[in-house]
Amino acid sequence: MRSRRDPAAAREALITILRHAYSGERAAALAYRGHWRSLPDGPDRRRIREIEEDEWRHRECVGGMLAGLGERPSLWRDARAAIVGSVLGVLCHVAGRLAPMYGAGRLERTNIREYETAALLAVETGRDAWIESFLEMAEVEWEHERYFRSRVGGHPWARWIPVWTAPAPKWEIRRSFRHRASGIRGPSSSDPIEASRGRGPSSVDPAKALMIRAIRRAVARHRARVS
Ligand SMILES: [Fe+2]
Ligand SMILES: [Fe+2]
Repeated sequence: MRSRRDPAAAREALITILRHAYSGERAAALAYRGHWRSLPDGPDRRRIREIEEDEWRHRECVGGMLAGLGERPSLWRDARAAIVGSVLGVLCHVAGRLAPMYGAGRLERTNIREYETAALLAVETGRDAWIESFLEMAEVEWEHERYFRSRVGGHPWARWIPVWTAPAPKWEIRRSFRHRASGIRGPSSSDPIEASRGRGPSSVDPAKALMIRAIRRAVARHRARVS
């Protein structure tokens, strides 16, 4: 079980992961933009376009958190992300259907873990209001990974390709978080997720409010698709 570390070290770790995520979301969004534009009209093109929108929202949310800590993104990392994402986006036009789906699935797998770690760092640094945002972003990345896994699995070459290790079930994100957070806060402490949700409207964190609006839009989009 994880134990609480030095608060200054936890804050530094949180800033590092936020900077990494902020630029990583940019690279992913630009790569997905190239990816969906390389596809013909259809469900894949629409889904990857939605995923691009998710990544921009994540970036906005993470950027708000960095600002909340009085910190800025890493300029060189962000510039590198723009180049990497743009190049990948262009390569999607020539790489065929499988390689971009495969690369994206592996990337999404690591993104889940990144936001799970960030949620624990939010506990360690007393940023309880950010817990729900991090867990929701981890769950969205989980959905992205599932989509790309399904597309790789459905490819005619799938039987010859070793697919990356599948993440745990989606519900495990919150169960695992509760377990590990109790190791930081102590087993008798209140539920950190409920504590995050229990904040009154006047104290809602801007980053959380942003995520809530983004999720509501995503739910409305999903309902419009299935109706
Ligand atoms: Fe993301
Ligand atoms: Fe993603």
